[in-house]
Amino acid sequence: YKRVTVKSLIEMKRNGERISMLTSYDFSMAKIVDDANVDVILVGDSASNVMAGHETTLPITLDQMIYHASSVIRAVKRALVVVDIPFGSYQSDPKEALRSAIRIMKESGAHAVKVEGGMEIKESVKRILNAGIPVMGHLGLTPQSIYKFGTYTVRAKEEEEAQKLLDDAKLLEKLGCFAIVLEKIPAELAKKVAESIHIPVIGIGAGNGVDGQVLVVHDLLGITQEFNPRFLRRYMNLYEEMGNAISRYVVDVKSRDFPNEDEQY
Ligand code: KIV
Ligand code: NA
Repeated sequence: YKRVTVKSLIEMKRNGERISMLTSYDFSMAKIVDDANVDVILVGDSASNVMAGHETTLPITLDQMIYHASSVIRAVKRALVVVDIPFGSYQSDPKEALRSAIRIMKESGAHAVKVEGGMEIKESVKRILNAGIPVMGHLGLTPQSIYKFGTYTVRAKEEEEAQKLLDDAKLLEKLGCFAIVLEKIPAELAKKVAESIHIPVIGIGAGNGVDGQVLVVHDLLGITQEFNPRFLRRYMNLYEEMGNAISRYVVDVKSRDFPNEDEQY
C-alpha cells in the first residue's frame, strides 16, 4: 500500500484529482472503508450521534475519541486518518488545545487532527501546528457551536458571513493547515473558497466545485434513517437489509431451525 499523506492530498488538488473522505469510528468499518480505497478516514465527533446516540456532538469526550481513533488506526493500511478534537478540549486556551492534540496523536497513532473554527481558534491552531501535528480546518456549519446558531440550516448565505468564511479559510491556509472541511454552505461560495486557496477543500453539502467530498459512512450506507438532508446520497438501505437478516435469525431460533446438524459439534 502506498500511504496517503498530507503532502499527497495537496498534490491531488494540484493535479485535479478529487479526494474521497468518509468517517469511521471502529475497527471493522475502518477496514472496509480503507480496503475500498477511500483517501481520508475521519474519526469524526459525529460518533457522539452515530455511535452513542446523543443529540449533538458536544458530549463526546477526548478519551472516547481516542478509543474510537485507536480502533480505526489498527485497521487502516492506506488512508490518512484524521481525528476530531472534541468540544471542550481545545477552545479554552492554546496549551489545552496542544495537550489534547498530543494525546490523540500519542495514544491513538492518528495522522492528523481536525478543529472547528477560524479566527477564534487561531492561536490554538498555530500551537498544534508548531508541534508538528497536521491540522485540518472545518468551517461553515460547525456542529460544536450548534447552540450559538440554534439550527442546522445552510450557513454563510449572507454576504458578511460569506466574507468571514473566505477570510477564515485564507487564514487557516496561511497558518499551515493541510486541508479544510466546508459544511453546508452555498455551492458557489465553496467553489470560490476552493479556487482562492492552494490546500484541498473537502465539502459536505458544499456542492461540486470543491476538491473532495466527505460523508458519514453510516448515512451513505443507510444505517441511519432519520437524517435526510438534501446533500446526502444513500448508496444502500442497510437499516432494512440488516433488520431483515436479523428478523430471519429470530425466526430460525424460535422455530428451532438454527442451529442445524452441520452447525454444531
Ligand atoms: O464529525 C464528522 O463526521 C464531521 C464530518 C461531517 C465532516 O466532522
Ligand atoms: Na465533526
